[in-house]
Amino acid sequence: MLAKPLTRKHALALDAADPLASLRDLFELKPGTIFMDANSIGPMAKAVRQSAEGLLDDWVNLRRRGWSNRQWLDMPSRLGDAIAPVIGADPGDVVVCDSTTINQFKAVAHCLAINHARSVILSQSGNFPTDVHVIQGMVEASRGRLSLRFIDTEEEAIAAMDETIAVAALSHVDYRSGERWDMKRVTEAAHAKGVLTVWDTSHSAGAVPVALKASRTDMAIGCGYKYLCTGPGGPAYIYARKDIADAVWPALAGWMGHDDVFGFARDFAPHPGIKRFIAGTPAVAANELAKPLLDIWPKIDPEKLCAKHKSLTDFLIALLDQECGPLGVEVTSPRGHERRGGNVSFRATGAGSVVEALVDQGVISSFRKPDAIRFGVSPLVISHQDIHEAVARLKRILAQKIWKQPKYKKVSV
Ligand SMILES: Cc1ncc(COP(=O)(O)O)c(C=O)c1O
Repeated sequence: MLAKPLTRKHALALDAADPLASLRDLFELKPGTIFMDANSIGPMAKAVRQSAEGLLDDWVNLRRRGWSNRQWLDMPSRLGDAIAPVIGADPGDVVVCDSTTINQFKAVAHCLAINHARSVILSQSGNFPTDVHVIQGMVEASRGRLSLRFIDTEEEAIAAMDETIAVAALSHVDYRSGERWDMKRVTEAAHAKGVLTVWDTSHSAGAVPVALKASRTDMAIGCGYKYLCTGPGGPAYIYARKDIADAVWPALAGWMGHDDVFGFARDFAPHPGIKRFIAGTPAVAANELAKPLLDIWPKIDPEKLCAKHKSLTDFLIALLDQECGPLGVEVTSPRGHERRGGNVSFRATGAGSVVEALVDQGVISSFRKPDAIRFGVSPLVISHQDIHEAVARLKRILAQKIWKQPKYKKVSV
């Protein structure tokens, strides 16, 4: 427990004791700028430049021979294996492909096909819009067969589980508040009523524990470009428990999910396991930008990573209370780390303009309507000194009412 008031000296001491401090050296960071937006685009590994150059050369020199001379076709599985330990999955049960939106469709459709006698899909009303829209599109296309039921809290979700529900498609962490749900508890309650689960782990993977296998969830999906650092627009991931993957065909049955891809058979035959969810040609360029992760993620102990996230976010919350509480800041993220996701959220008057001023002053954070400010904390690169400096800049913006300047009136996305 740190003695209060918290100071820069505390930050220095915590950084000195951080076993993962050197990970930061693997990434290109912009001096003077503190990127607290791992929830949008995670940091870029230094090796990405070389990887991108290599791809451009291959494009010129190899062209179609790249398919056989390089591992382009294997990248969905290789990247999936690299991130599997971070999300508590076994290698071979995850592939990196497509977007979270598309993977949400694949996962929900898969569970509906398995639980075909049921017709209700359960989700959070505060779930990320794309997750809900995908379900709404499926309901609309079903012409009255399917319906969507909303709940708001973990307790409501558990109480709502019944024999009409085919699948509960839920976010592990609320993208606004940063609240993390108990995946194991909710999954157990779902399974007790024969409900399958799909978890969107976009705001937890790479920051806080995600125990997919231990929680026995049926499927999971998530963004690669946030804490996992696949890069701008980088590919997402999809996980399925082995028995669930093999239970039925994928709804999006593409040639890359075929058991014999280059057999060019007319009729589909699903690849065993997770590979059946690779629908089409891998996004070679995006995967090449993500390639350095093959060396990075397997070297990281997920437990140490999560312990660092706890230390950083505990420090952030305590500093926000101490420095900005008197200026009207109210932390809305849960206080216990076991209930927090990757980002810490807080409320402030004029939140949109405050974020504009923060970004202008080199603290890249994000705003979500109506009044939430989010600091995404990537344990790969953020230090306690960064946290201390970011809060100091926030305090200045609030205390000197800098956010009221006309140039910060227009709020960007
Ligand atoms: C929880 C969650 N799911 C999905 C998405 C977006 O999915 P996609 O990458 O398909 O746009 C986001 C984007 O921030 C998100 O926060």
